[in-house]
Amino acid sequence: MRRSSIVSFAVAALAVALPVAATASTSNPPDLYLGQKAAVSCNICHGRAGAGNGNLSIQGLPSAFEPGKSYPLTVKLVETGAKKAGFRLAAQTADGKQAGKIVNRDPSLDVHVAEGVTYLKQSYNGTDTNGTERSWTFLWKAPESGSVKFSVEAVAGDADGSVQGDHTYSYSAAIEAGQGSRGQAD
Ligand code: HEC
Repeated sequence: MRRSSIVSFAVAALAVALPVAATASTSNPPDLYLGQKAAVSCNICHGRAGAGNGNLSIQGLPSAFEPGKSYPLTVKLVETGAKKAGFRLAAQTADGKQAGKIVNRDPSLDVHVAEGVTYLKQSYNGTDTNGTERSWTFLWKAPESGSVKFSVEAVAGDADGSVQGDHTYSYSAAIEAGQGSRGQAD
């Protein structure tokens, strides 16, 4: 293939890919907005945080983690009447690097890495609630030392095909390596 046709193929592929990416954002937090430099809150599109009367939490978090241990953690969003729900979670060190490892075995979740940080989020098939809540479970393998900040943003939606009437939530928790930590001395 000549160089010019490779270029025009690439341009054509991009033109096809862009609308697809835009449609995907209707069920997933848009990948375009992941990463620290490009991070955009769900509330930019889905309504002001604090407007809903529900609750977002991470269940199963230890108060201090054992180095290298795997913890099953559950993101839980509760809002009476919510029909759809979604979230985006990251575990980061104080300077924004990936902290520990996120292991996903749930086909209703998606993992996306941006700027070295793993973001876990709902997939198209993972947004139905039971009318009151939705939870998503994953495994987190603790790092060897340090402190870790989990941050989650979530959307409770009314499934009307518009961002009107949706509510956003955020939750964060910081934990540190517990006693017996094999952390490095500084
Ligand atoms: C750039 C705008 C934009 C951002 C940022 C965004 N979304 Fe959306 N999202 C949309 C649009 C548009 C829809 C389709 C309309 C709707 O259903 O609310 C949608 C739909 C959804 C739905 C289905 C809602 C329903 O009622 O059917 C969920 C769940 C969702 N988004 C989660 C998220 C989460 C979680 C984040 C943040 C991590 C996020 N979105 C960030 C634009 C956005």
